[in-house]
Amino acid sequence: MAQAYLTRGKRKVNGSIQIKSAKNSILPIICSTVLQKNDCELILVPKIKDVEELLNVVGLLGITSERVNENLIIHSQNITYSSLDCDFAKNFRASIFLVGAMLTRFKQCEISLPGGCDIGKRNIDIHLDALASLGARYEIVQDVLIFNGKNMHSGVVELRYPSVGATINTIFASLELEGITTIINPAKEPEIKDLASFLNSLGYVIVGAGSKKISIYGRKIFPKPIAYKPIGDRIVAGTLLVLTTILGGEIMLSNIEQDSLEPVIFYLKKVGAKIAKYQNAIYLYSNAKLKPFKIVTGPFPQFPTDMQSIFISLALCCNGKSEIVEKVFEDRFKVVDEFKKFGACIKKRENSIIIEGKKSLNGATVRATDLRAGAGLVLTALTIEDSCEIENIEVIMRGYEDFDKILRTLGQDIKKN
Ligand code: EPZ
Repeated sequence: MAQAYLTRGKRKVNGSIQIKSAKNSILPIICSTVLQKNDCELILVPKIKDVEELLNVVGLLGITSERVNENLIIHSQNITYSSLDCDFAKNFRASIFLVGAMLTRFKQCEISLPGGCDIGKRNIDIHLDALASLGARYEIVQDVLIFNGKNMHSGVVELRYPSVGATINTIFASLELEGITTIINPAKEPEIKDLASFLNSLGYVIVGAGSKKISIYGRKIFPKPIAYKPIGDRIVAGTLLVLTTILGGEIMLSNIEQDSLEPVIFYLKKVGAKIAKYQNAIYLYSNAKLKPFKIVTGPFPQFPTDMQSIFISLALCCNGKSEIVEKVFEDRFKVVDEFKKFGACIKKRENSIIIEGKKSLNGATVRATDLRAGAGLVLTALTIEDSCEIENIEVIMRGYEDFDKILRTLGQDIKKN
């Protein structure tokens, strides 16, 4: 049965939260276990749907896993080749990260073309061009991608756009290619650095992750067990910082590196939040008197597109008009129509929106159109005294563990129906 959140808002925030490991680090690291062929223990892994779905996909290859307290243990000793032409792979974007790992492990891969979703077409041309420039051959037969990696070689790969997924696939595909593979214009997201750090701890040699050039020195590794703690989830952390900024109060977040949140912290300070940074922790205080802002999303270190919808809820609480320009996904403003059900005054242009802040909003029933949009709608609902209902919360559970429980510990009135 479809679930919904029910809220009654206008309550201050007070509390401290330990941020769990980053979804967008964990997903490519799970794909890395195709290469590792041993036990891998990941620390502080949130119980979220995206992790479960990817474990289902790698389960087709004989990879098993179990949860031990807050950790996830993955066993990949008995990995065997299998086609990934299945609904799991088609409906779940991150399964495309498996292509590079499968090419290194099996020299072949067969996988359903990943579907689009509510934020855009989600093309894979950059992935395909990068892998082809390393000698991979592929054909698309009835929505199934069939790769032949028997004649792959190292080389120079220039990405036309710093795609996160294409960077991940190019790193995976070149790990054991003799010689040096160089990626020009790679994604610089913190999760890419985290993945490289994990792969290097397996024995691979990746230099320059997080910079404008990544070099992979191809080599074979010996399977060994590993325990690894990915970085904290910067988008979950950013969501809770915005919550506190708009409602007023204070919050302490632990297990979060502020460098990964720099662009978000810059704007929260600009609108009026007070922020203190500690070793792997962030403190925020807000009196909720906020100034309007203008943000333009882009690849890291620009403002993260995943925080865009969440900043709509911030803009609705600022004194004046704010502007958000979306430059990463072509259709990430679908959620605007849902915000308007609260009475929000938002004007859409080509790839930007103008949001009028401090308008009094009304209770409403709204629908989460995607993971981050859902989080933004919940935050706005919590600024409204009337009761609100947020439907389709299954998409929020893809990336936020126990979201309602965490919000209740921070003093919010929210429950699942
Ligand atoms: C990753 O998606 C993240 N997902 C996304 O987070 C995040 O929004 C995105 O990076 C940008 O930071 C995971 O890590 C699982 P891209 P990815 O390839 O790899 C276009 C979330 O909420 N493009 O950097 O799919 C693409 O259409 C999710 O956790 C091509 O045109 O992002 C988009 O417009 C949402 N051709 C832009 O580039 C390609 O071959 C960025 O895509 C690849 C991408």
